[in-house]
Amino acid sequence: MAKSTLSFVCQNCGAAYNRWQGKCEACGEWNTLAEEDPTGSVPVSIRSRRKGRTFKLESLAGKTQDAPRLSSGMTELDRVTGGGFVRGSVLLVGGDPGIGKSTLLTQATSMMARAGHRTVYISGEEAIAQVRLRADRLGLADAPVQLAAETSVEDIVSTLSEGTVPRLIVIDSIQTMWTDTVESAPGTVTQVRASAQALIRFAKRSGAAIILVGHVTKDGQIAGPRVVEHMVDAVLSFEGEGSQQFRILRAVKNRFGPTDEIGVFEMTGLGLREVSNPSELFLSERDLGTPGTAVFAGIEGTRPVLVELQALVAPTSLGTPRRAVVGWDPSRLSMVLAVLEAHCGVKLSGHDVYLNVAGGLRIQEPAADLAAAAALVSSLVNAPLPTDAVYFGEISLSGAVRPVAQTASRLKEAAKLGFGRAVLPESARGEVGGDAGLALNTVGGLTTLVAEIAARGSARGNREREPVEKNATAARFRRPDG
Ligand code: TYD
Ligand code: MG
Repeated sequence: MAKSTLSFVCQNCGAAYNRWQGKCEACGEWNTLAEEDPTGSVPVSIRSRRKGRTFKLESLAGKTQDAPRLSSGMTELDRVTGGGFVRGSVLLVGGDPGIGKSTLLTQATSMMARAGHRTVYISGEEAIAQVRLRADRLGLADAPVQLAAETSVEDIVSTLSEGTVPRLIVIDSIQTMWTDTVESAPGTVTQVRASAQALIRFAKRSGAAIILVGHVTKDGQIAGPRVVEHMVDAVLSFEGEGSQQFRILRAVKNRFGPTDEIGVFEMTGLGLREVSNPSELFLSERDLGTPGTAVFAGIEGTRPVLVELQALVAPTSLGTPRRAVVGWDPSRLSMVLAVLEAHCGVKLSGHDVYLNVAGGLRIQEPAADLAAAAALVSSLVNAPLPTDAVYFGEISLSGAVRPVAQTASRLKEAAKLGFGRAVLPESARGEVGGDAGLALNTVGGLTTLVAEIAARGSARGNREREPVEKNATAARFRRPDG
């Protein structure tokens, strides 16, 4: 059978099929297939005519210069990139529309331009007047950023090849760019990929650092930036809850730096403000003395971050109780609930459970288990936890509380912010050399903690509910390793 030239390409992940189907089998998204020419950019005539040239093969050993980096002038942004933009590298900044990508990059380009570097901002989405208006609002109108509203990659590359090489070029956004070399419409996978390829080639050739902005769309109407993720050197994701002003910049992939650092910003009327001490921000709106809240002493990259976990456990009216979680792994929540039920006699099958990480932060550490469990039990027995306590520790399936990394820096941060005690794994005590600066309440098993919190509930006279089985918490747990 003759191979048809037209094919159906998933606009989310780029997988190609030779007939239409409702669901992309590669990424599992629905209704993302669109008809495109998947053969890519180079016409067959050129492809077959080109003769291979020989190149020199190198050894692994040999002198390499440190990646020459350029500071953006924004500490939080530099933290995520691993110390600044690397020459000739291409970085993708993804995020929901309206999250603040253009604002962040307007600020970064302006700071760099003020520091005397040639920076270029190409907007494919907004008119020059709109970009100027934003810069005006940010108080950056005087920064010597070079601005253009263009969408043709060829024109952009030709223009930027002239004069001094720009140190930083922002392309806002990659989905609006198009190149002559492919036929598809702008925004399709083929166009996005070909445009990104041309821009990456230009970056490598010229040594300019390029930032591509990419919208993440759930419905898959516009090609998601996922198709360029593997082509670029670093992928940063800009996240936040729409209703809150906190924004988190996170490295998802980074060829030149760590991927566990986060940058924290606050969206204000005057643009993004860097938050150098995120704990203070995340704890600023604490409801002191409310049942169901626990402060987790976490680590994000190299930095300790204290954040409040909020739980609500309420009797359900549904056959299958609801479990909803924001900012944490739902399967982690299920595990903690199962351990509470199986080992600590905490009955939750008749309750809806909601868990929320305050401030729009997304926690990935298992160390949050203990804080989550404390918040859940606190809500269940309707007894607030001590307001001066922080919690951290991983819970194993057997109900043991296991040690986590960087105990000392977690404790230091908690002490710095005025906390008086820490609830932590028993085995972490050895790691705390000398005076920790706060009282240490070590727990070997989850049962101990549940019993403590349940006792607080009884002391408050919350007798109308008996959610924690009597005697269930009485030392049913034995630590396996003594
Ligand atoms: P924007 O950078 O345009 O988002 P993106 O490029 O990711 O689509 O930011 C849009 C939102 O940010 C918009 O809802 C208004 C808000 N905003 C502020 O609150 N303060 C500001 O100083 C600016 C420039 C924007
Ligand atoms: Mg924008």
